[in-house]
Amino acid sequence: MNAIAQLTSRLPKVGTTIFTVMSALAQEHGAVNLGQGFPDFDCDPRLLDAVNAAMRAGHNQYPPMAGVPALREAIATKIQTLYGRTYDPGSEITVTAGATQAILTAILAVVHPGDEVIVLEPCYDSYEPNIELAGGKAVFVPLGRCGQVGDFRPDIERIAAAITPRTRALILNTPHNPSATVWAAEDMQALAELLRPTPIVVISDEVYEHMVFDGRQHESVARHPGLAERSFIVSSFGKTYHVTGWKVGYVVAPAPLMAEFRKVHQFNVFTVNTPMQHALAAYMADPAPYLELPAFYQRKRDLFRDGLAGTRLRLLPSEGSYFQCVDYSAVSDLAEPAFCRWLTTEVGVAAIPLSVFYHDGTDRKLARFCFAKRDDTLQQALERLAKL
Ligand SMILES: Cc1ncc(COP(=O)(O)O)c(C=O)c1O
Repeated sequence: MNAIAQLTSRLPKVGTTIFTVMSALAQEHGAVNLGQGFPDFDCDPRLLDAVNAAMRAGHNQYPPMAGVPALREAIATKIQTLYGRTYDPGSEITVTAGATQAILTAILAVVHPGDEVIVLEPCYDSYEPNIELAGGKAVFVPLGRCGQVGDFRPDIERIAAAITPRTRALILNTPHNPSATVWAAEDMQALAELLRPTPIVVISDEVYEHMVFDGRQHESVARHPGLAERSFIVSSFGKTYHVTGWKVGYVVAPAPLMAEFRKVHQFNVFTVNTPMQHALAAYMADPAPYLELPAFYQRKRDLFRDGLAGTRLRLLPSEGSYFQCVDYSAVSDLAEPAFCRWLTTEVGVAAIPLSVFYHDGTDRKLARFCFAKRDDTLQQALERLAKL
């Protein structure tokens, strides 16, 4: 082997993600793909028209590094209206190439080699490799308070036990992928109390902020001053407006944190797609599309849950996000990856094993479905799952 082929991997543990693997398997076997989290329906045509209009109006060159001012102002207005906190569009809001880049950039801005970052598991799969790239160490704390399978509420005492003098940051995600748990105000208050005497920075992944069900309120860290003052809040237009392929999101944080974020951002992506930023700014003038999102997804969740209720799959709560987890232990003894493979190839519905959201592959016979799909897609999946 030559020297180039012997490159030492920066991320030796990382392979092809399960989402790519399951999507390929679903396609090969003609399975309904409820695995990867993206809608199979189109966005609002008004949003497409707005992109077209922005391009025709000549918004096709680099925007300011932090994002198109009108979009940053629209984001500030939304946060102020919904969560009651004021962020300065000039110094506290940055538009990013999706939430994934936002999270990596926040981690690179905060974490130094040897620093520890508390990660609550199960979790979105980019967090750990991001921490490793920064030279930090992920310290995993399991979600769940009573050891009961399917409980994913935060246990503040367990988080407290993981804090050391080296803890630099904690990553929070509510509504939560994959468990669909939504943190309550008491959870946020308890976390604020815990972190008050520490210098720990919070990276709050709130990409599902507009998908909360049954009258719940999204507990953005922006609502909690003790957390907001130490937090980067990350959100994603891809999730909110059904355009995951656009990869546009944003970060808000107090000015001193944002100043460090921008230092990394400007040498990471520098700027983000200009016409889409103009389009999103114009589209956000009407809050209806995001205000209607809870009802839109709650109806799909209920359709899906009602259909599954007749099967031997045990439904876990789905309080927010567009995911529904199930306990399949009454159906099969297979380990989670094998069960999801079997479900895809033999039953014709793709799902994601929860074990992939744990660093050690914790396997509790749980699988995640995504219900951000057309009703006929969900019906087709339910017809197949009815056999279980
Ligand atoms: C919890 C969580 N964070 C971040 C992201 C990434 O969002 P984006 O597509 O805007 O990069 C996802 C996407 O699945 C997610 O589930």
